Amino acid sequence: DKGTYPHYMLKEIDDQPAVMRKIVQTYFNEDGEPQIDGALLTDLKAADRLYIVAAGTSWHAGLVGAKLFERLAHVSAEAFVASEFAYDTPMLSEHPFFIFLSQSGETADSREVLTQIKAAGYHSLTLTNVQNSTLSREATYTMALEAGPEIAVASTKAYTAQIAVEAVIAKVLGETLGQDAARDFDLANQLGLVANGIQALVDQKEVFEEIAKNNFVDQRDAFYIGRGIDYALSLEASLKLKEITYIHSEGVAAGELKHGPIALIEAGTPVIGVITQAKTAGLTRSNLAETAARGSHIMTIVSKSLANAHDDIVLEDIDELLSPLLAIIPAQLISYYTSLLKGLDVDKPRNLAKSVTVQ
Ligand code: M6R
Repeated sequence: DKGTYPHYMLKEIDDQPAVMRKIVQTYFNEDGEPQIDGALLTDLKAADRLYIVAAGTSWHAGLVGAKLFERLAHVSAEAFVASEFAYDTPMLSEHPFFIFLSQSGETADSREVLTQIKAAGYHSLTLTNVQNSTLSREATYTMALEAGPEIAVASTKAYTAQIAVEAVIAKVLGETLGQDAARDFDLANQLGLVANGIQALVDQKEVFEEIAKNNFVDQRDAFYIGRGIDYALSLEASLKLKEITYIHSEGVAAGELKHGPIALIEAGTPVIGVITQAKTAGLTRSNLAETAARGSHIMTIVSKSLANAHDDIVLEDIDELLSPLLAIIPAQLISYYTSLLKGLDVDKPRNLAKSVTVQ
């Protein structure tokens, strides 16, 4: 039920602080330590490589998850597009473990991969928002996203929930494997900061409505750029924009701009720089300036500790590994208001279904 909200999408964006707190309640004990199923942990520990399989927004959450597993648990991990994996299967390691991410748990492309890897005798985990779904029933293990029903076609709270639950698993696995990075990562505290940081953003909706009105509604193209985790975030931000506003948008690895995409920049084209990683902040800023020199209209989404007086959207400081949990919120809201101002069907964009049950 969307209650007094005009659209499910807006309600689901607003739900996100509560979802973060629900994940802490569900997966952490009284001492603030995350817990996962013992048999699942045994399987994860035995794996030499994690294969994350998903589609769309869930794949984008998987791109972030792979970085969490590598940096916190020091286990090789990669996120794969399900429809590609199924028919162009990569070489598998000796002890692979599969993680399926799916809001609906019914995505046909992911189901096909699960059928194949099950037949080959491999174990798997499904993270889903729908507990009795096919992917949930057929995998060896399942974990709930605890996001509550997501009705709008554009996925919002499932994305942030998927990243938070991946962080839980990466932290537990990393600690079990004796990794300092995992031990020192105070995830319960971080997720609390994330909840507050999201709340601060959703409390200033008028800012994002203004940005949508002044900078997006009349545009044909838009670009989100970033490096590393900020690149993964840019892909999701760009998908949010294109699917509900029909503006052609791309998420580009900031360093790749000059290898091609910069040719598309015209006077006034919006280019949004995502800057949450200290190591690459300066480089992304120079890439933004290169597009500005070609006439783009640049905007920035920046973590507080990296921000200056000219930045447009400033995020509360949280651990760099979790920055997508905050950085996606402005992009969700800008997409929402752009779609609304264009008079489009926000919750049910053309040509798309909430659950894609055909390959
Ligand atoms: O239910 P799933 O998470 O498996 O769905 C995957 C994609 O179809 C889904 O994320 C899609 O890309 C959304 N419309 C994105 O907002």
